[in-house]
Amino acid sequence: MTDFDIIILGAGAAGLMAGIEAGRRGRRVLVVDHAKNPGEKIRISGGGRCNFTNINATHVLGRERFLSSNPRFALSALSRFTPDMFIERVKKRGIAFHEKTLGQLFCDGPATQIVSMLIDDLRQAGAAIWTGRSVGSVEKIDEGFKVLVGDGYVTCESLVVATGGKSIPKMGATGFAYALAKQFGLAVTETRPGLVPLTFEEGKLEELKELAGVSTDAVISHGKTKFREALLFTHRGLSGPAILQISSYWREGDSISVDLLPERDALAMLQTARKEQPRNHVQTVLAGHLPKRLAQLLGELINQPGMIGDFSDKKLQPVADQVSRWTLKPVGSEGYRTAEVTLGGIDTTGLDAKTMMARTVPGLYFVGEAVDVTGWLGGYNFQWAWASGWSAGQAA
Ligand code: FDA
Repeated sequence: MTDFDIIILGAGAAGLMAGIEAGRRGRRVLVVDHAKNPGEKIRISGGGRCNFTNINATHVLGRERFLSSNPRFALSALSRFTPDMFIERVKKRGIAFHEKTLGQLFCDGPATQIVSMLIDDLRQAGAAIWTGRSVGSVEKIDEGFKVLVGDGYVTCESLVVATGGKSIPKMGATGFAYALAKQFGLAVTETRPGLVPLTFEEGKLEELKELAGVSTDAVISHGKTKFREALLFTHRGLSGPAILQISSYWREGDSISVDLLPERDALAMLQTARKEQPRNHVQTVLAGHLPKRLAQLLGELINQPGMIGDFSDKKLQPVADQVSRWTLKPVGSEGYRTAEVTLGGIDTTGLDAKTMMARTVPGLYFVGEAVDVTGWLGGYNFQWAWASGWSAGQAA
């Protein structure tokens, strides 16, 4: 007989959920993590308030909110464990929460409440949890798997890999899941940092340096993909929710387009200003609609001195374009150091969508961020972690 029915590697969002569900089914569960504390990313998530789900995650539009080589793959788990089911647990626990914007649910108090809820549920489900233990080799044996934990071997019938992606190595992120998948002959799609600030080359940074700290509402586009949220200028480049969202679609060498007057006609705004404030300079007109420092920089970039009252429509058009179609070419991203997620991962064609089990290795499961499913910013990634962990927890 094996030491445990199930060993779960990784005590993050997906691993804890898988452990709770499998434990509640009466399975003998061990959750192992090399970090000292479980759920560290939950603790720091959402600026310490944990955006634990998004009420639109299973909405019909939800599909486009998960990036994957096979976007349909996530639907099974997401439709079986819904945001409502997680919200129910949060309410039952008495954790106060609110919708911030766009269906994003945040705790009113600290994110540690979510970690405590999960750990209590895990213990009540009878699962064991070993933290601060390194995981070494994993071998297939007749009864299941043999895992080197610390300096001893532990055996199990089923192994759930929930070790996450490569984002934030300082917090214990490793490429462990990908190496293990490859060891068992599973394909891994190319991984990249996602939901990450974008950076600029020195010259551009110099040009934008006065804007560090400025934040404004904007629509950022990359091809047909657009996000309207806050844009933040930093010392390294661009950040803020709109940029983090677009970063998951952006590729090296691509430009992005910035509309600083979302849902407004910039040319019409300038024409009105020409009529109503003809003696004003372009910079002054823009400062009526944008943060002052930003208006100043745009004025310098437009470099059209004189009063707006003297501008023809032909002369106003480039001004409007600068404001509503500002093209910027990032050179890179801040990388895994600050990325909230890892795009790509375990190829979903090798996994069963209902159970998350590897098709070719009975008893081996992959869940959470390690899998090639990445959500938008706004609670989608935790919902994927809960749903995929839950699915494996029902099956393993
Ligand atoms: P997760 O990374 O949570 O857990 C993996 C666990 O495995 C870790 O505990 C790690 O220590 C362990 N591990 C790794 N390698 C190991 C090894 N070799 N041996 C043993 N253990 C190992 N999402 C969202 O929906 N709402 C939000 O508010 C936020 N906010 C947010 C802020 C920040 C700063 C970051 C970095 C990320 C977010 N996210 C988020 C994303 C979210 O945190 C992420 O999608 C989930 O934590 C993924 O859950 P997993 O359980 O798959 O991995």
